[in-house]
Amino acid sequence: SAFLSRRGNRAPCAKAGGLADVSALLLDTLSQEGLDVHVAMPNFRGMFHSDAGIPSRQLHLCQDREFFYRRSVYDGSPEANLRAAMAFQRDVIHYILPRLRPDIVHCHDWMTGLVPAAARAAGIPSLFTVHNLHDERTTMSYIEEKGVDVPRFWQHLYFEQYPSSYESMRDHGAVSLLGSGILAADHMNTVSPSFLHELSAGGHGAVRPVADAVRGKIQAGRAAGILNSIPARVRPSEDKYLAERYDEKTHVQGKRANKLALQKMLGLEEDADAPMLFWPSRLDPMQKGCQLLAEILYRVVSDYWGLGLQVVFVADGPFQPHFRRIAEFHGLQQRIAVHHFSEPVSRLGYAASDFTMMPSAYEPCGLSQMVALRYGSLPIVHGTGGLRDTVTHFDAATSSGNGFVFETHDANGLRWAIDQAIRFQIQPAADRQRQITRIMAESARAFSPESMVAGYMGIYSKLLQLRA
Ligand code: GLC
Repeated sequence: SAFLSRRGNRAPCAKAGGLADVSALLLDTLSQEGLDVHVAMPNFRGMFHSDAGIPSRQLHLCQDREFFYRRSVYDGSPEANLRAAMAFQRDVIHYILPRLRPDIVHCHDWMTGLVPAAARAAGIPSLFTVHNLHDERTTMSYIEEKGVDVPRFWQHLYFEQYPSSYESMRDHGAVSLLGSGILAADHMNTVSPSFLHELSAGGHGAVRPVADAVRGKIQAGRAAGILNSIPARVRPSEDKYLAERYDEKTHVQGKRANKLALQKMLGLEEDADAPMLFWPSRLDPMQKGCQLLAEILYRVVSDYWGLGLQVVFVADGPFQPHFRRIAEFHGLQQRIAVHHFSEPVSRLGYAASDFTMMPSAYEPCGLSQMVALRYGSLPIVHGTGGLRDTVTHFDAATSSGNGFVFETHDANGLRWAIDQAIRFQIQPAADRQRQITRIMAESARAFSPESMVAGYMGIYSKLLQLRA
């Protein structure tokens, strides 16, 4: 289910979330290394946001009339989403694997959970990458609620036989697609080291089959945590969407110009000295922790009224109307702006803001904090998963750290971290600017695709040995 990027353009041609960005980057880099990479994707008509030519030899589109008018695998009811994912896997298993006979198969997330078992039966080694848990939970609860028998459901989609790992993945009558994938694959990985340990400990509501399968793979030496990365070109000195480009030496002037431009665009008070908090990710309370901010937003803005504090959301999701209502109810539209997600406005958000908030309940890796660091917008995060692996709490005494990390996932925790950030903001300007210069310089070199790709290449070569 990886997503292919177009030649010469590293933006993914189809995208529902971070998985697309990371897959596109991995594919580009692997192709540049000379690997013959093929991609299987469902052909949902509404999914491709560019109609320009996608290299066709390496792209294999699975088509099912029932699901053709979708935009993504998350587009409908849980049942419909599950059926769409099943139809996709049916095509991969029945048509694509036998025709291509690849040396290895690399699967991503629950919607490919049945492929490793089929690959194993065909003698093809596989890697299963876990990007997220959320959709797995949706699937599980759907199955539990409706009492659906998944093996039957699977057969219903005209498989002669369902993969053998299926039965063993049954837990209280339900089946875990993610667990099946991890169990049957020869190797598994998560998108950050911390998330691997959290998963194996059954954290974040990981269902038992998933935690068991992860532990089994760790014990067998067949599990890894490979930190995601972002392309080198994602940096404020090259960003065409900015009002003014800048780097670690020119960030003071650059950020002021971008802040004024964003304030103007969103109808906020035009004040280049106002501290600005930015929210870049989907307003989803299950994962992203936006309810913590909803709880304290009004107080934070009023407590720092004198400083002129502003909060900017460039994000969609179920909580979006809620934040709009908070701003309107209190008449704070000049201090709180809510804009739908758009790549250009989002980039301006990183460039204009002083801090980027990611109070996620769990975060397999997270890419926004990496972008934020490159743009000199210091992340305010919950210490979990990939956020823990990329952000360390600022320490004035030793001039170390690159953001603000809270440990207890509640509104008080977030409030504490925001207060720490504001303390950072109101220190003498020269001290603050020196820190931002250091953090931007460190981040310009960090999160490079090379180390991520080296991690995957290492696993691929292990898998090739299995084949020989
Ligand atoms: C999912 C996860 C995110 C991760 C991304 C790419 O969107 O929620 O943490 O960075 O996948 O792996």
